[in-house]
Amino acid sequence: MTGAAGYIGSHTALELLSAGHDVVSFDNYANSSPASLARVARLTGKAAEIVEGDLRDAPALERLLGNGAYDAVVHFAGLKAVGESVEKPLLYYDNNVSGSANLLRAMQAGGCRKLVFSSSATVYGAPERCPITESFPLSAVNPYGRTKLIIEDICRDLAASEPGWNIALLRYFNPVGAHESGEIGEDPSGIPNNLMPFVMQTAVGKHDSVKVFGTDYPTPDGTGIRDYIHVVDLAKAHSAALERIDSFKGAEPVNLGTGKGRSVLEVLAAASKAVGREIPRTLSPRRPGDAAECWADPSRAKEKLGWTAERDLDAMCRDHWRWQSKNPSGYR
Ligand code: NAD
Ligand code: UFG
Repeated sequence: MTGAAGYIGSHTALELLSAGHDVVSFDNYANSSPASLARVARLTGKAAEIVEGDLRDAPALERLLGNGAYDAVVHFAGLKAVGESVEKPLLYYDNNVSGSANLLRAMQAGGCRKLVFSSSATVYGAPERCPITESFPLSAVNPYGRTKLIIEDICRDLAASEPGWNIALLRYFNPVGAHESGEIGEDPSGIPNNLMPFVMQTAVGKHDSVKVFGTDYPTPDGTGIRDYIHVVDLAKAHSAALERIDSFKGAEPVNLGTGKGRSVLEVLAAASKAVGREIPRTLSPRRPGDAAECWADPSRAKEKLGWTAERDLDAMCRDHWRWQSKNPSGYR
């Protein structure tokens, strides 16, 4: 697992170790720390093998994968801050795109051709309607999104060039929540851009109020609608993708969402319920670049993976709050 120490990686490591898999973590801790994996080891009673390394270090990947000992690679590692990607596009193309090309080359050399890749709903650009199916047109609206699209294209080109690749391009919608133990969760560095971590940090007093970006969207309550998905459901989808990876012929996309769109005000109401008091909010102008609605048609995930999301918005908020309140400063 590349990026195993990160938010989604640590939850997936927990799921895979619990299911009896052996896990090797490859991470440079650019946006995480080994503390998450130490907690995963405590929770599961089984440790991942830890390798500190950078995707941009091609020889390190070749050494790691060269022994042919791996059944599959789950590739989470990447930078994911949209704003930063606009300011530092070359960093994103180097880290995410070149890093992924290095990984694929090392897999090819080591004889491992099964990959589960963290793609994103961002590859649908500004979707014309919802729900979004995998056959919708693809486009990028910022450099981060373009890195995901390019990596998907590289995977499709590679699979077309050589038989035998099994690649699951998992397009996540909006991952939120935390493991129910409250021991692992999302630990954003700096001020979070995403709604749920900002809401929960506001609840612990780190910010005065949540800005509701846009109240005049053509949605029932005027605020933006997204498909929030519990990170534990997402982790289980990775486990299912690995079990069925042989059914992926070449590189095939699968949406990972619940199929239910929720508005910013609905999230604030559910979060306030979980926290036990009203979370302060300020009605604000739209954030440039935001779509009114983005939610998935998750039927292909059900067909291909035998997986559907089980946890609702109340569980997402309850579990995210447990993590945030037990760990107000994350892993630090
Ligand atoms: P995260 O930042 O918590 O985890 C990413 C991990 O990759 C971190 O541990 C980081 O240290 C590591 N990493 C980054 N660059 C690296 C490099 N060059 N070499 C080795 N390790 C490196 O992010 P996350 O939320 O867990 O996201 C995981 C993946 O899912 C990312 O690829 C992200 O783009 C994608 N994704 C995330 C979301 C989301 O909202 N969280 C949505 C869609 C897709
Ligand atoms: N929002 C607020 N206030 C905030 C933050 C967000 O009102 O402080 C609103 C947004 O306008 C949007 C919704 O809450 O309507 C969700 O916003 P997020 O920033 O949490 O998530 P996005 O859907 O904008 O983007 C996320 C990731 C992208 C990824 C995309 C699809 O940040 O990288 O999901 O997977 F591409």
